[in-house]
Amino acid sequence: MPLLDNPVGVEDLILLEPLTQESLLKNLQLRFESKEIYTYIGSVVVSVNPYQQLPIYGPEFINKYRDCTFFELKPHIYALANVAYQSLRDQDRDQCILITGESGAGKTEASKLVMSYVAAVCGKGEQVNSVKEQLLQSNPVLEAFGNAKTIRNNNSSRFGKYMDIEFDFKGVPLGGVVTNYLLEKSRVVKQLKGERNFHIFHQLLAGADTQLLKALKLERDPSSYAYLNADVSEVGGMDDASNFRTVQNAMAVIGFSEEEIRQVLEVTALVLKLGNVELASEFQANGVSASGIREGPGIQEIGELVGLNSKELERALCARTMETAKEKVVTALNVIQAQYARDALAKNIYNRLFNWIVNRINESIKVGTGEKKKVMGVLDIYGFEILQDNSFEQFVINYCNEKLQQVFIEITLKEEQEEYAREGIPWRKVDYFDNGIICNLIEHNQRGILAMLDEECLRPGVVSDSTFLAKLNQLFSKHDHYESKVTQNAQRQYDHTMGLSCFRISHYAGKVTYNVASFIDKNNDLLFRDLSQVMWKAQHTLLRSLFPEGDPKQASLKRPPTAGAQFKSSVAILMKNLYAKNPNYIRCIKPNENQQRGQFSWELVATQSQYLGLLENVRVRRAGYAYRQVYGLFLERYRMLSRSTWPSWKEGDRAGVKKVLEDLAVASEEVAFGKTKIFIRSPRTLFFLEEQRRLKIQQLATLIQKTYRGWRCRTHYQLMRKSQILISSWFRGNRQKKRYGKMRASALLIQAFVRGWKARKDYRKYFRSGAALLLSSFIYKSLAQKFLLGLKNNLPSTKILDHKWPAAPYKCFNTANQELRQLFYRYQCKKFRDRLSAEQVEVLREKLCASELFKDRKASYPQSVPIQFRGDYIGLQGNPKLQKLKGGEEGPVLMAETVKKVNRGNGKTSSRILLLTKRHVILTDAKKSQARTVIELDSLAGVSVTSFKDGLFCLHMNEMALVGSKGDFLLISDHVIELLTKMSRAVLAAMQRQLPITVTEKFSVKFKESSVAVKVIQGPGGGGGEGKLSCKKKGSRNLEVTVP
Ligand SMILES: Nc1ncnc2c1ncn2[C@@H]1O[C@H](COP(=O)(O)OP(=O)(O)OP(=O)(O)O)[C@@H](O)[C@H]1O
Ligand SMILES: [Mg+2]
Repeated sequence: MPLLDNPVGVEDLILLEPLTQESLLKNLQLRFESKEIYTYIGSVVVSVNPYQQLPIYGPEFINKYRDCTFFELKPHIYALANVAYQSLRDQDRDQCILITGESGAGKTEASKLVMSYVAAVCGKGEQVNSVKEQLLQSNPVLEAFGNAKTIRNNNSSRFGKYMDIEFDFKGVPLGGVVTNYLLEKSRVVKQLKGERNFHIFHQLLAGADTQLLKALKLERDPSSYAYLNADVSEVGGMDDASNFRTVQNAMAVIGFSEEEIRQVLEVTALVLKLGNVELASEFQANGVSASGIREGPGIQEIGELVGLNSKELERALCARTMETAKEKVVTALNVIQAQYARDALAKNIYNRLFNWIVNRINESIKVGTGEKKKVMGVLDIYGFEILQDNSFEQFVINYCNEKLQQVFIEITLKEEQEEYAREGIPWRKVDYFDNGIICNLIEHNQRGILAMLDEECLRPGVVSDSTFLAKLNQLFSKHDHYESKVTQNAQRQYDHTMGLSCFRISHYAGKVTYNVASFIDKNNDLLFRDLSQVMWKAQHTLLRSLFPEGDPKQASLKRPPTAGAQFKSSVAILMKNLYAKNPNYIRCIKPNENQQRGQFSWELVATQSQYLGLLENVRVRRAGYAYRQVYGLFLERYRMLSRSTWPSWKEGDRAGVKKVLEDLAVASEEVAFGKTKIFIRSPRTLFFLEEQRRLKIQQLATLIQKTYRGWRCRTHYQLMRKSQILISSWFRGNRQKKRYGKMRASALLIQAFVRGWKARKDYRKYFRSGAALLLSSFIYKSLAQKFLLGLKNNLPSTKILDHKWPAAPYKCFNTANQELRQLFYRYQCKKFRDRLSAEQVEVLREKLCASELFKDRKASYPQSVPIQFRGDYIGLQGNPKLQKLKGGEEGPVLMAETVKKVNRGNGKTSSRILLLTKRHVILTDAKKSQARTVIELDSLAGVSVTSFKDGLFCLHMNEMALVGSKGDFLLISDHVIELLTKMSRAVLAAMQRQLPITVTEKFSVKFKESSVAVKVIQGPGGGGGEGKLSCKKKGSRNLEVTVP
């Protein structure tokens, strides 16, 4: 819905051209006929009752209006509610929503729309929702008990209601307070034709189930009750039964307990039943007329319903106790008086019940005292009323409306114009009607109508409504807004509409003629003490609590304040309250008297528009400025819109404001600079500023958010880091501690083991386990000692051939014993060797050499071992002849014996003497002592011997020696072992070489040119050594030697 998109007429009357009463009405009519019921005058909403449900309400529309500024969408109550709520929330200004208009103009509906809008846009959450629910649900309860069908309005508010909704600083609703003003209680006992009693009575009869009705001792038919107008028990379009359920439900939501709901209904039923108490006239013995209750079940049932003694009730209804400080006088009441008393009781009960309900609601929705609150007040008070017969109720209702008009005038017309003058803004005064004079006429403390009425009520002597009227006539004979038959007569006016008992006041909204009948009574608002006392005695908690003054202990003779005075003071409080808040106006207009949709009664609307001062309102608005603010606050609010003034500005508020507006390029005719305030002409400019501010705030909020988030993250990070460091240090510490603990434990364990080991080592000797070892080693040692000592004493002689050796006493010493035996044997050998002479050593060396050469090779060797090598077997020493054989050779003869030489040719043997010297072997024929053969040891190539016991051996000559000699020598010696041993030693000594001695049975013997193969075989003796050696020539070249 774009701005002013195809508007019907003008949406804001400020834009109306030309501006006349007629054009204004035409515009309203045009819009009304197009179902555009809302029109603005600046920020004031004019609402024309459509008398039909229009599709412009509900969540969808609420959402639209909450996101837009005031002039962006079509005029609507939601837009006004939105502005009020936003400035409450954002600018911290308490708000009030003043809904005015005559009865049936739509004030109550408007107030509900405002409340439902605010409830929809403010806060969320379970708690908040329950607060909202309670606030909203207070409406059906209060309407049921305080509204009634009148001829003007099927749901007319018969009480004034001002509700403060309280919010916290974020705009979340916390609760509220309901203040009620003067319930029209006369309706309880009497209604005009075509009107009904309060809804609750009809709702109860229609909606209660049979059981409840029975419990309340009621009948369903409304015509059974004297207090209910039988002709209009139903209202078109109103479902009493379902409304009853809604009310019950709402009471439960608000927090009424089941018991409380039941008691409220019982008291309501009591009122109905009181109306049916019939009084009959009686006469006392002295002829004075008295009254009594006519027989019937009613009074009995009342007694049962609320726990009352019916006799006492009867007495209280039919008699009056006059009490002075000194005495008590009981006077009987006549039927009229008794009926009056009954009705007064019914009205009082109902009125007090209504007040109790309001208080009970307040108890549920009240906010704790501690919190700082923002408040939005919604005022929905009974509208201005002109009836056929206007009484005290209409008088106070109209007085209240007069006061509200005054608020409107004060704030929107008078105050505004005065302000322009004060601020030095060029201004042409707009005329308007100031109703201050009428308010004064009614409320002046000494000379007001209400003061007069109070005076009359309190005055001693005969007092009546007519004395009161006379007083008024006297006092206000010259007053422009007061008329009566008397003043008219004085001015010679004739007016048949003015009754004798009437006075007329020219209210801002029209002239109203009031009938003074029962003004005094209604103002006194007295209930006979007998009645309050009997009510207090009831066994009904709620009813009893409604009449605290009935308690004899509480009884006071002091008069309560009059109804007029009470109302005046509560209106004064209300006015004070409203002045303290930022007002938002909804001006309700009733399009016709018939509650008909689509009917626009020109006259009716014209009257309303006139007395509402719509035209003046438009004029002032047009000429004036929609908004003003002191420079400081304005700058504070908008300085973020200019780079020059944000974030700081030092050159004064006014200059700052100028700068901001300049920077925003606001047209100069849109603003005026007063002495202390800036004035902004059109709301549009203000909304522009607000929008700019909203956008800027978003940016700033983002900046703050950004900074804050950064800060939060940083601190969070730092905290985390700190914590992490702490945790890790703890962790590390702990780990090291554990490790240390482990190490320490290990060290201690090792220490303990080492110490233990050491200790065990030191103490092992003391241990039994060590003892075994010790014992065994001791035993072992002692055995060894014994063994060694035994051995020492039993050692064999050092003779080498003594082979005795004591055996080891125990097996375990066997090895040692063997070793020792070896050692000892070696020792014997050494001893033996030490005793040997040099010759013996030489002999042994020869023996050793013989052993090396022949041991295990030649069978005759073993026999040769024990036989001493004599060397000289031919007696060479003492035989010089033999000595000569030696020739000229120097040195001793190593060996001299007789050998046999085997002839190689025939195998025969011949003796020879053989001498062995250091260098030669000399063979001599014993018989022919000269013939001798000298063989140089040097020319010996080797020697061959047999392995048998024989003495045969062959001296092999080397090649050189063979030349010129006869060849090898085949000889037989009896001492072949000794001979060959000595020969070998001589060769070694002379030539430094080993003489090769071959043990063999087959060898060849060389001659000059040829050689003979010798084969040695063992004779049949088998080696016994008994036989003789024989050589047999076999052929020319073979020689067979048979050995024994
Ligand atoms: N905005 C609306 N839309 C539809 N119907 C409406 C609207 N406003 C009022 N009405 C109708 O007009 C009737 C009277 O309105 P409402 O009760 O609000 O008047 P009022 O100004 O409170 O009168 P009173 O002073 O008697 O209490 C309502 O019951 C309803 O039927
Ligand atoms: Mg109303």
